[in-house]
Amino acid sequence: MNLAVNIGKLKLKNPIICASGTFGFGDELKRLVDFSSIGAVVSKTITAEPREGNIPPRIYETDCGVINSIGLANPGVDSFIKEKLPALGRLKTNHIISLGGFSEKEYKQLVEKLDKQDKVDAFELNLSCPNLGKEKLISQSQKLSSDLVKGLRKLTKKTLIVKLTPEVTDIVKIAKAVERAGADAISMVNTYFSLAIDIETKKPYLGNVTGGYSGPAIKPMSLYRVWKVANSLRIPVVGGGGITDYKDALEFLLAGAAAVSLGTINLTDPNAAKDILSGVKAYMDKNKMKKISDLRRSFNG
Ligand SMILES: Cc1cc2nc3c(=O)[nH]c(=O)nc-3n(C[C@H](O)[C@H](O)[C@H](O)COP(=O)(O)O)c2cc1C
Repeated sequence: MNLAVNIGKLKLKNPIICASGTFGFGDELKRLVDFSSIGAVVSKTITAEPREGNIPPRIYETDCGVINSIGLANPGVDSFIKEKLPALGRLKTNHIISLGGFSEKEYKQLVEKLDKQDKVDAFELNLSCPNLGKEKLISQSQKLSSDLVKGLRKLTKKTLIVKLTPEVTDIVKIAKAVERAGADAISMVNTYFSLAIDIETKKPYLGNVTGGYSGPAIKPMSLYRVWKVANSLRIPVVGGGGITDYKDALEFLLAGAAAVSLGTINLTDPNAAKDILSGVKAYMDKNKMKKISDLRRSFNG
């Protein structure tokens, strides 16, 4: 059985990707996690300058998911290159570095600095963080997303994955614009805008008031969007949103995702990738499938 998948020029040994912001940079978890089950780790989103993130509380747990308002807390690109990147090459997985900017200039600076680094296997452009107090996310605009991707495409030959928000009327339109602009793959979904209020204090639970919702509750909505985009584009889609076990992962792969991303599940089970990969393998074995793309081909929808 061949579990390898290609995302642009990036060759992954298997289709399980740990999603940005839920797995640190990877190195922090090296004693807890079996990296042979992880095709790639997407780093916490890096920005040009260090960021403290939003005021706490920044996480609120619901019955079936998590609302976070972290706000891209990270050490900044220079400190990432000096202090974090050297350790990453020792982990037996691929490293996709997530980039976040507040202007095109900042995204360009990030790509220019990181493009020279051998340990950076690919970029994921986070155009979809809901926690920055901006009126509009970049990936809510076809033009802003497309212009940005066109500009960055000229600066790097490394694989460019673009991460989209699900919070748009027509996500296929945005994804197609990004594909035309030169993206190698789409990553979806980022979190959904959300709010939780403490009825005793009559205040929002989160310091930032609003946050982004993730976890099991968002799975059906995310699966729908991944299915629509994967079947409308030529480039691969890394699909996720609410995956907690191998059955969820299989749904995304059947719907057309080339690989799957695990987010919130990593917060409670950092080794979730291991069980998910063995469940996918056992299912493929039972169904006499030889490669990951056989899953997509077998979908009867
Ligand atoms: C605590 C937390 C922090 C996150 N930080 C980031 C981030 O820095 N960059 C990013 O692109 N997505 C971030 N995300 C979104 C996840 O990568 C993922 O897209 C989303 O949670 C949906 O998947 P899930 O339901 O499997 O968690 C974060 C999610 C959580 C729960």
